[in-house]
Amino acid sequence: MEQTKFLMSDDDIPTHWYNIQADLPEPLPPIIHPGRMDPVTPDDLLPVFPMELIMQEVSQERWIEIPEPVRDVYKLWRPTPLYRAYRWEKALGTPARIYYKWEGVSPPGSHKPNTAVAQAYYNKMEGQTRISTETGAGQWGSALAFGCNLFDLECKVYMVAISYDQKPYRKSMMEAWGASVVPSPSPDTSAGRKYLEEDPSHTGSLGLAISEAVEDAVTTEGTKYSLGSVLNHVLMHQTIIGQEMKKQFEMADDYPDMLIGCIGGGSSMGGFSLPYIPDKIKDGKDIQIICVEPMASPSVTKGLYKYDFGDTAATIPLLKMYTLGHSFIPAPIHAGGLRYHGMSPIICLLNDLGIMETRALHQIPVFEAAVSFAAAEGIIPAPEPSHAIKAAMDEALKCKETGEEKVIAFNLCGHGHFDMGAFDAYFAGELVNYEYPAEKVAEAQKELPEVPAEYR
Ligand SMILES: Cc1ncc(COP(=O)(O)O)c(C=O)c1O
Repeated sequence: MEQTKFLMSDDDIPTHWYNIQADLPEPLPPIIHPGRMDPVTPDDLLPVFPMELIMQEVSQERWIEIPEPVRDVYKLWRPTPLYRAYRWEKALGTPARIYYKWEGVSPPGSHKPNTAVAQAYYNKMEGQTRISTETGAGQWGSALAFGCNLFDLECKVYMVAISYDQKPYRKSMMEAWGASVVPSPSPDTSAGRKYLEEDPSHTGSLGLAISEAVEDAVTTEGTKYSLGSVLNHVLMHQTIIGQEMKKQFEMADDYPDMLIGCIGGGSSMGGFSLPYIPDKIKDGKDIQIICVEPMASPSVTKGLYKYDFGDTAATIPLLKMYTLGHSFIPAPIHAGGLRYHGMSPIICLLNDLGIMETRALHQIPVFEAAVSFAAAEGIIPAPEPSHAIKAAMDEALKCKETGEEKVIAFNLCGHGHFDMGAFDAYFAGELVNYEYPAEKVAEAQKELPEVPAEYR
C-alpha cells in the first residue's frame, strides 16, 4: 500500500539545533550598532535579549544542545508529519513526487512555537518575568503567548493594526494563553504615539510594531524583547524541521530535488532548508532551494542588499539584508507574515551566493493554488505557505510538460483557520494583486543608513 504520511516518535525529536554559521562559505556580515556604526558587542544587546540567545546569535558551533524542558514541550506536537501528496499529484496530473512537511499541527498552528518555546525558556532561566513582541499575521504572537504561558511569563503583543482588524480570533487565542494584545501603532509607546498622531487610522507595519515592542522591553523592568524571525538564533531553533524531514525522506526511500518555502523574515524556510545546505555545498547534491515571496513585498527580488534598520523608528541594530527600506508600509495583502521590509541575513547571504534562489508571486494565483491543494489534500493552508504551494504547483506542472519525475518538497508551515476572511475575499473576487513599484525601491535607497565601508 502507498504510504501517505511519514511519522516518527517522541524519541526522534532532534537533540540539537543545527547552526549553519559553522558551514557558511563566508562569515555573515556583522550586526552594526545604530549609533556608533561599528559591530555590536553582547553587552549592547543585553537590554533587549537574554545572554544565552545573544551567544547563540554569534555562535560558530555546528550543534547546540536543545534543553530538556524545551524538548519536553516539543513532544506536544513534534515530530511533525511529512506527507506525500498523492491526491494532489493525481489532481494535477503530474509525474512529480510532491511531499510537504506539515507544521500546522502545533497548538498555535504554525512553525513559530519551535523558537517561541525556546526563547521563553531562556528568558525564564535568566530571571525575566515578561516578554514583549510584535506580530504580523498573529501566528508569531500566538506562539509566543503559548510559550510564555508554559513558562509562567507575562506576554505583551503589539499586533499590526490591519491584522488586528482582519483576524480578531488570533487576538482571542493570544488572550486565552494569557497575553495582552494591542493594535500597533498603539498609544502605549512613544513610537506608536508619534505614528498615531500623524495618521490616527494608520494600518501599521511589522517594522513599526517591532519599534514599539523593543521600546517596551528597554523601558519596562523585568522585560526582554523577542523576535519571531530574521535573526540567526531564530532560524537555528527552526532547524528541527529540516532535521526531522531528512529522516522522514530516508523512511520514504526518496530524496528531494527541490525545496520550496515562503519567506517573510526567513525562519520557516531556514528551518526547513538549512540542514540540507551541507548536502548541497559539501556533498555536491543537486538540490534547488527556492524561496517564495509576495510581489507586494519583494525584499529579495527587488530590494537592495545593504545594511538597514530592522524597525521603522530606526532604533535597533543594523543588519545587512535585502531591504525595501525601513519606512516601507506594505500593501494590505492577506499574507500578513510576509509583509516585512527586510530578510534574514542568512537567507540573504545564501541568495547572494547563488545557493538559494527567490521568486515573487501575486496573491490571486497563490489563493488559486491554495484552493487546489485544499481540495485534494484537505488541509486549508495559511496564505503565507500558500506561496510555496503555488511555486510547487508551477514546478509540478512543468514536470507534466517535460515528463520529469522530480521530487518536490515544500514547507506547509501553518494552517489558515484564522484566515478564512481572506479566502472569503478571494471567493468574492475582491482580492487585488499589488506590485511594488520600482520607483519606491530607488526612494528607499535614499533613506538607507551610511555604514563605514570596512563593514559593507
Ligand atoms: C504561517 C506563517 N508562515 C510564514 C511566516 C513568515 O515568517 P518566516 O519567513 O519567518 O517563516 C509567518 C509569519 O508570521 C507565518 O505566520
